[in-house]
Amino acid sequence: MATIEQSSATGVSFALTDEQRELRALARAFAEKEIRPKAAEYDEHSAHPADVIAKAHELGLMNLHVPAEYGGLELSTFDGILIGEETNWGCSGMGTAIGANGLGSGPVIIAGTDEQKAKWLPPLLDEPILCSFGLSEPEAGSDVAKLKTTAVRRGDEYVLNGSKTFITNAGHAAWTVVFAKTDTSKGHKGISAFIVPMDTPGVRIEQHLDKMGQRSTDTSAFAMADVVIPAENRLGEEGDGFKIAMKTLDFTRPGTAAGAVGVAQAAYELAVEYAKERVTFDVPIAMHQGVSFMIADMATEIEAARLLVWQAAWLHDQGERATLQSSFAKRFAADTAMKVTTDAVQVFGGYGYMKEYPVEKLMRDAKLFQIYEGTSQIQRLVIAKEIFMPR
Ligand code: CAA
Repeated sequence: MATIEQSSATGVSFALTDEQRELRALARAFAEKEIRPKAAEYDEHSAHPADVIAKAHELGLMNLHVPAEYGGLELSTFDGILIGEETNWGCSGMGTAIGANGLGSGPVIIAGTDEQKAKWLPPLLDEPILCSFGLSEPEAGSDVAKLKTTAVRRGDEYVLNGSKTFITNAGHAAWTVVFAKTDTSKGHKGISAFIVPMDTPGVRIEQHLDKMGQRSTDTSAFAMADVVIPAENRLGEEGDGFKIAMKTLDFTRPGTAAGAVGVAQAAYELAVEYAKERVTFDVPIAMHQGVSFMIADMATEIEAARLLVWQAAWLHDQGERATLQSSFAKRFAADTAMKVTTDAVQVFGGYGYMKEYPVEKLMRDAKLFQIYEGTSQIQRLVIAKEIFMPR
């Protein structure tokens, strides 16, 4: 169980470099100019933000961690969380749509061979194409080891059969990393990972799912019926899939947690402004302790969540396994976003519940952070395992 104190890096600083400040400012400006003005409309229609994704791609706000030798920016995990907080501050539906290539390409960056990286990563940089992470299934979300999709070796090929659901961007993805059982008798040790082009015969998008929040991110279910892919599309060895998935999630959870901080920050800022303007009993409601204490708690918890996110990303960048800190960050930031957005609706009172005001959307959006990339309960499970059964 690595901790900051045990890390080989010396010194802790909260100061950002000039480059990091610039990155953050770039992402904030993008969120203000390109994301926020469209957020309500895209949310209403659950529209895929292809235009916003294309602009984010052009500015270099996507595919942040692709190594330089494959043409990428090779930004650090820390750089990524700074960008993720801002895009999600703009709108977490669009922020997730923009950021999800990090999850989709994560297994390739983590476990791909040089040939696989050279084949699959550069096209992501050339064009705003999407990739996705095909782990969850109708009957296996939290309990990954129980997934049922199969991959059967046939000479130089694999034949895949099964269903995936709740897959971010799958409906618009060029390829998906699909986790499938190559040996159904071995539990998690029987899972392998495969790059599956989504135009392969037999892959069928079954449903664009209609969500409560983060409605401008596509979340789809797809089926695979006798999908034949070359064996060279397997990532790692047979049986490596479970650990590839877990390592990817260790790496992406701080980014998702940063998104939750962005949503909480947006709700907090709106609540502060409203509390200064809205008058009851002859004074702005900010003067009522019932309101100002709620806002004081919001500010404190957002800051604590942000620091956990920074810690997890920083530790990851030191080359340490950051499983525990990633789950600390994801759990706390997701729960904070839910609490802060709920309280922001409360500060706005009846208006907060109305679609005319932006806080109800933030409350709907926040809920998903407690569910995807491992529920808040799964994060507690991971934390407890790290405490009682340290690896
Ligand atoms: N890094 C490396 N190895 C790890 C690891 C990690 N973070 N976590 C576990 N492992 C290893 C263990 O050491 C163990 O190895 P051995 O077989 O060598 O002993 C093996 O993996 C199995 O570990 P566990 O016994 O802990 O496995 P488990 O079956 O009890 O499950 C779990 C653990 C943490 C609950 C896991 O199933 C999990 O993370 N579930 C949540 C999945 C999740 O986040 N899903 C979200 C999908 S993505 C998404 O939502 C995005 C989207 O597109 C919507």
